[in-house]
Amino acid sequence: MSAPPDHPPALPLDLSGRVVFVAGGGSAGPGWSIGRAACVTYARLGASVCVADRDAASAEETTALIHAEGGTAATLVGDVADAADVQRLFAEARERFGGAIDVLHHNVGIGKTGGPLETSTEDFDRIHSVNVNSLLLACQQVLPAMVERGRGSIIAISSIAGMRYLGYPHLAYGVTKAAVTHFTRMVAQQYAGQGVRANTVVPGLIDTPRIATTVAKMFSDTSLDEARAARARQVPMGRMGTAWDVAHACAFLASDAAAYVTGTELVVDGGITGKFV
Ligand SMILES: NC(=O)c1ccc[n+]([C@@H]2O[C@H](COP(=O)([O-])OP(=O)(O)OC[C@H]3O[C@@H](n4cnc5c(N)ncnc54)[C@H](O)[C@@H]3O)[C@@H](O)[C@H]2O)c1
Repeated sequence: MSAPPDHPPALPLDLSGRVVFVAGGGSAGPGWSIGRAACVTYARLGASVCVADRDAASAEETTALIHAEGGTAATLVGDVADAADVQRLFAEARERFGGAIDVLHHNVGIGKTGGPLETSTEDFDRIHSVNVNSLLLACQQVLPAMVERGRGSIIAISSIAGMRYLGYPHLAYGVTKAAVTHFTRMVAQQYAGQGVRANTVVPGLIDTPRIATTVAKMFSDTSLDEARAARARQVPMGRMGTAWDVAHACAFLASDAAAYVTGTELVVDGGITGKFV
């Protein structure tokens, strides 16, 4: 692969003409999930965005937000952990935007609080299927064309729960997020010479609608506001991250500004993984 010129001009983030597939582009509740903010960000940078989600109404809301800003997007409905659905979703994406996928943003993630005694093998398999098998299925769809064209970016969303114990048991989630990170490192190494980059974005404590239904109860039995405040207090920056904080990191990795970045983890956590207590 050729090196860039000696004195290249500053590179704006630009995804014009690129097709981005976001697996999990809806939101667990009203407001801005990471996938939704990422979809809107990609579209603002000129990409055509495939908003894939098993929740049709939520995906459609993301697509409508993009259309309202004059962007290009299509809603694709299906289960990204189901092999037949995945095949259909990517076929629809290629048909819709006429060609290959330039950027795979693997966003889906589910969990269940509890340690080994509270986690059944059925729960473990289900969480692994959604968090990890789906990444395998999606890579099988995008890699052949990325290799053929000599370019592509795979962005997997992991979690700091895959690097650290966050103060409460969340075993299946943490283990599968660690798997997502290492899966991505391995793909990056295998395909580095063929123009395909693969990186993980590792969000910290992010204030998305999902936390109301999942981890909030680990921080307060009584109120969501109290749980949000307790979460924010843990972070050196004094606040939880927003979905946009994560989306902007993804935009960098999707773009040619990250042309020499592969096989790495971009931690977006307000400093929390660097601190002792
Ligand atoms: N919110 C946080 O604090 C936080 C922190 C670290 C990492 N993350 C990770 O970031 C990602 C997004 O988090 P979020 O809080 O925005 O979550 P979210 O639940 O709002 O968004 C995930 C979307 O994926 C969809 N989805 C789930 N399973 C699916 C399946 N099998 N097929 C198709 N669609 C499916 C959901 O319907 C939802 O719209 C997840 O991977 C999560 O683990 C979140």
